[in-house]
Amino acid sequence: MNNNKMVVVSLGGSLIVPDVIDWKFVKNFKKIIETEIARGCRFIIVTGGGKTARKYIEASGKIDSIDAEDKDWIGIHATRMNAHFMRTVFKKHAHPIINTNPFDLESFLTAKEPILVAAGYRPGNSTDYISVLLAKHFEVKKVVNLSNIDYVCDKDPKKFKDAKKIKEMSWQEFQKIVGDKWDPGLNAPFDPVASKVAAKEGIEVTILNGKKLSNFRKYLDGEKFAGTIIK
Ligand code: UTP
Repeated sequence: MNNNKMVVVSLGGSLIVPDVIDWKFVKNFKKIIETEIARGCRFIIVTGGGKTARKYIEASGKIDSIDAEDKDWIGIHATRMNAHFMRTVFKKHAHPIINTNPFDLESFLTAKEPILVAAGYRPGNSTDYISVLLAKHFEVKKVVNLSNIDYVCDKDPKKFKDAKKIKEMSWQEFQKIVGDKWDPGLNAPFDPVASKVAAKEGIEVTILNGKKLSNFRKYLDGEKFAGTIIK
């Protein structure tokens, strides 16, 4: 990739904090991003909450009955913690202000840096949703979602041995699998509400296993990669 293209990356928190912070992953991810930046690419990186979010949410529920909105707020702050972490390790290239409101883009729109970091906004959605909104505002037609799955399958591969990998599918087909409502406990490859917006705006989302960073590099370089394209 050697043009001034903006790439929107929804970076699953499960990659940054699968259990403890995976600094080796972040170090390797940084190398790839910096190589692409040197070739003229810009990135919006939206960080998820990962285990940090889940651990705090679970712990709060053990102490008292915490409502869904407050659990989401804890999750949001975990995404923001991860965003500050990414912005710090990318300090040389990253815009200093983390976006936490996808409807207020003033600082992003005037930013000159090649990396813009964003995090969670309000209860009831996810950082996938933020990624799609930012892609829409920046008129970027592709979002790459890095998580810990290789492909979207026609059914849950953990439960069904005969689950089939899907390499390319329409938003309609994807919505048949994940539904179209937000559910805080849902472990969908891409948030159903974000999917609705992506479908409406004609945004293509590619689901990749971010752990396999050479595969991510292939995606960025326009080479053949493993993953699911939803459009
Ligand atoms: P995400 O679900 O976006 O992070 O946010 P994640 O850890 O990357 O998810 P995986 O790894 O893809 O599964 C974590 C939690 O923060 C709250 C939600 O509760 C969400 O489950 N959140 C996040 C919001 O309520 N609003 C936001 O805008 C973002």
